Amino acid sequence: MSDNKFVVLEGIDGSGTSTQLEKLSSYCKEKNINSHFTSEPTSSLIGLTIREFLKGKSKIAKSALPYLFLADRINHLDGEDGIIHHLNQDRYVFCDRYLFSTLAYQSLDFNIDLLYNQNKNFLLPSRVIFIDTPVAVADSRITSRDKEREIYEKAQLQHQIRENYFKAFELFKNEIKLLVIDGEKSIDAIFTKIINFLELENEISN
Ligand code: TMP
Repeated sequence: MSDNKFVVLEGIDGSGTSTQLEKLSSYCKEKNINSHFTSEPTSSLIGLTIREFLKGKSKIAKSALPYLFLADRINHLDGEDGIIHHLNQDRYVFCDRYLFSTLAYQSLDFNIDLLYNQNKNFLLPSRVIFIDTPVAVADSRITSRDKEREIYEKAQLQHQIRENYFKAFELFKNEIKLLVIDGEKSIDAIFTKIINFLELENEISN
């Protein structure tokens, strides 16, 4: 079981991870908790290439996609402003999506064991939070966003992605602490569960 200050939030598209991370960021500021907030795909050139792909605007072969996510992740961990740098400063690192997304999404097209083997040696977070929002609820949020849908943002795929997440968590069950939260609960109720799970009491300085 990993013991570090690296925490990952995961969920299907529209599950509410970004909303919770915004609340967590305000909470950490208010309580003076030394923390860094980040997400994947990142805003690096590799991440931007991935974003183009997700918008359906890229001519890059689909078979290259898992490798783009791998490259983005390596840079995200080892880069100058990377996850490892922040953990070395004794900061909490809260990340919106990580390798569990690769196993859940790219396994729509690639073998999950292959993806697991490509990703299993990356630094693992000690805690993972999965916001389990029903596909219909998440899908109506995506509709109300008034933004063009990305390639994975189709209800039928999201059902499969949710199932793939649970397969992915099973593969890492001995190494991470996992909290699954019912995404239909209120924003505040979900946040309270997250705070309790993180056990940040010792970090709070007066
Ligand atoms: P988001 O920024 O709204 O969370 O969207 C990111 C999209 O990228 C989302 O559909 C999930 C997808 N994704 C993958 O397919 N594989 C990955 O490894 C990661 C990190 C994200």
